[in-house]
Amino acid sequence: MFRRYDKPGRPRRPSPKRHAFSMPVREVFEVRIEKMVQGGEGMARLADGRVCFVAGALPGELCKVAVTFTKKDFSRGHVVEVLEGASPDRVEARCPLYGKCGGCSLQHLDSEKQAEYLAQVERENFRRIARIELPESFTVHTGPAWGYRNRARVVVVCDQAGDKPIVRFGFRKQESNSVALFKNCPVLTPALNEFLQGKAREIFAGKFRPGREMEVNLFDNGSGEISYYYEGMPASEFSENAVSVAEICGKKIEADASVFFQSNLELLPALVKSVRNAVDEGLASGESSDEWLIDLFSGVGFFAAMLMDKFKRVTTVEREEKCLQHAKVNLSVTNGTTDSAINGKIENVSAPAEEWLARNVMDIPATLIVDPPRTGLPKEALDAIADSSVNRLIYVSCHPVTLARDTALLAEKGFKIRRAEAFAFYPQTPHLEMMLVLAR
Ligand SMILES: C[S@@+](CC[C@H](N)C(=O)[O-])C[C@H]1O[C@@H](n2cnc3c(N)ncnc32)[C@H](O)[C@@H]1O
Repeated sequence: MFRRYDKPGRPRRPSPKRHAFSMPVREVFEVRIEKMVQGGEGMARLADGRVCFVAGALPGELCKVAVTFTKKDFSRGHVVEVLEGASPDRVEARCPLYGKCGGCSLQHLDSEKQAEYLAQVERENFRRIARIELPESFTVHTGPAWGYRNRARVVVVCDQAGDKPIVRFGFRKQESNSVALFKNCPVLTPALNEFLQGKAREIFAGKFRPGREMEVNLFDNGSGEISYYYEGMPASEFSENAVSVAEICGKKIEADASVFFQSNLELLPALVKSVRNAVDEGLASGESSDEWLIDLFSGVGFFAAMLMDKFKRVTTVEREEKCLQHAKVNLSVTNGTTDSAINGKIENVSAPAEEWLARNVMDIPATLIVDPPRTGLPKEALDAIADSSVNRLIYVSCHPVTLARDTALLAEKGFKIRRAEAFAFYPQTPHLEMMLVLAR
């Protein structure tokens, strides 16, 4: 269904990634939404065959859509009005900043239904990108829909009213430098909101020059302790206020607010349980061995710390040198491992994973877990895994598109999906955490 309201203006050159709501409207159409796609947008087809991605739309709805970006083969826009057939899963967004702040884009969809929609999107991603069907058993583990996010990067805006410093907080608008100021963010943990409304104002008042905006990383360790980090933080302030310890599945995991850490502590134990089960299945089947666990893209050594009790030797590989010290602490034999034989057989490496893999050809069927950034596995890493004696790989991913791409490449080398699970780590956003077990 298609109707044009306005003539298109002279095309500008905005980035296609910029948030549809923040861009000038170029034309308005009526379209019927066919399905939800990666990124949480509704997909519709215009009369001329172009695909239109519509923010804020749900499948089945007839929407008036303001188009804000047009290319030869696709357009992008946002819902102005649902004209007919509003989805029964549509709800009022909870946050007054919805559509302005770059953080959430699924608040218009019932929280109870988000996992179901995103699972469908994942299935389609794998069909489209990898030409692979996810197993029937593919499930999404869910946790709290609000107040879950224990880690965030906020913008601190410092001003001065006479002698009095004024400190406010916001999030960057998507692909934009402007800031959406907030008082209370419904996806942040209550402890983070409380910190921002109270102690954070004292901490940051006078710290940055008036008129200056500073990005600050915040981390809630799940026990009400908030740590923070900003660029240029003095070493003494860093050691007192950036470093933190979270207790996860009975283990104490040290990290600091400047490095990667998982951002949904409530659902994290479910992922740990699935990863441990996946390891047990590999060991029981003989596809992998307990001789050697290799945790690639290991951050502070999180997965290795959760799995080390099952192995005789453990190696973590992480590019960020800042993670190394934490990984050493997290994998120390005092952290839950009673087997003193592993002492001296723990190796924490600071190097790009692809370089380490190329230098260390694995000639035993080691157990390999990888958790790369959104860009997925570098080609050299994929090649090295394919050439090694690794027959079983646990792949944790926060970006299903690169996961599907890498799965297709590994499939060419004989790997098949044994198990697929997802974790709704980021409700109100279109992101899912995935765990695949691949074996050959
Ligand atoms: C998604 S995080 C996972 C961290 C860890 N597995 C965890 O659960 O906390 C990805 C990590 O990979 C690291 N990284 C990115 N590129 C890398 C590379 N080429 N080689 C090694 N580590 C890399 C990042 O610094 C980051 O710590």
